[in-house]
Amino acid sequence: MFKTIEWTDEGVRMIDQTRLPVKEIYRTYQDYQGVAEAIRSMVIRGAPAIGVAAAMGVALGVKNSPATRVAGLRAEFDTIAEAISRTRPTAVNLFWAVKRMRAVFEEWLARPQPGLDSDQERIAGVKARLVEEAQRILAEDIAVNEAMGRHGAALLDGGSTVLTHCNAGALATGGYGTALGVIRAAIAQGKQIRVFADETRPFLQGARLTAWELAKDGIPVTLITDSMAGHFMKEGKVQAAIVGADRIAANGDVANKIGTYTVAVLAHENHIPFYVAAPLSTIDMSVASGDQIPIEERSPEEVKQVAGVPIAPAAVEARHPAFDVTPHRYVTAIITERGLARAPYEASLPALFAPATA
Ligand code: MRU
Repeated sequence: MFKTIEWTDEGVRMIDQTRLPVKEIYRTYQDYQGVAEAIRSMVIRGAPAIGVAAAMGVALGVKNSPATRVAGLRAEFDTIAEAISRTRPTAVNLFWAVKRMRAVFEEWLARPQPGLDSDQERIAGVKARLVEEAQRILAEDIAVNEAMGRHGAALLDGGSTVLTHCNAGALATGGYGTALGVIRAAIAQGKQIRVFADETRPFLQGARLTAWELAKDGIPVTLITDSMAGHFMKEGKVQAAIVGADRIAANGDVANKIGTYTVAVLAHENHIPFYVAAPLSTIDMSVASGDQIPIEERSPEEVKQVAGVPIAPAAVEARHPAFDVTPHRYVTAIITERGLARAPYEASLPALFAPATA
């Protein structure tokens, strides 16, 4: 199995998702600016994977800092965090990861560190701590996806065909996947599951990434264009839809790849359950509803071209909102690492964040 992202002695190594499925190549970034550019240009993409990349970018930037005083390192942390935070606006995992890295940084510096008295010693110590934390975020993400898989697998009957949109697999996470993790877990339980993958215009994450990842794993996958989803649902060929998420509001509204809303409405119309698989790090309790989620607007050229080949008149106007918001009324359940949330989400989502009682 490929590794989406990893920390190496040479730098942060990622599979280049802009080159898949034609080429499986890996890139190693040796500075935080490179990691930021990899997120912006979608060499790495998918909310949880962006979160891991953001954490590793912060760790790398701090590790490379020439600062000799803690005050200087703190100023540099702000610069790095700002650069990483400006890359993509919708996936909340990015901001979650930067916030977690900042909390670790400040907490480590605030606590007495016996034997580390000079600024130089404290700087070396906090650098090592941040590298450790970034690697921990990656390992936790994989474990969280496996837990989501265990909770979600029960929702899928053997013999089902599941429709998914975009890529919510190992490529979009530290590994295993959110929506595809649920499918993987159901298959691991011995269920026969087939997948319909929407191609996901315009960036084609479904065609380029989901189809590649599932085929590589030997999971039966049929690629369809986005416009075919309704047809197959009406024909009774789809038993469930599962997608990931980039940000979930406190009321259960779900921001995910453009076209997800259409899938949800079609599923509702055809009495098919519509599930969202997402870790708690994707749930943003600070936004009351999906209306407040910032939607990334990407270059219209991504709509007017396919793989660099023009498919529309050069002068025509085009739009590219990269995400849409699915109202919570269309969401049958949200699958998280702590179990399922169902409507009313205002009650079920906060309950997931409550500390586990013995
Ligand atoms: O623009 P992308 O490719 O980063 O968008 C990713 C998605 O919308 C995914 O479906 C989402 O992050 C799923 S969570 C693994």
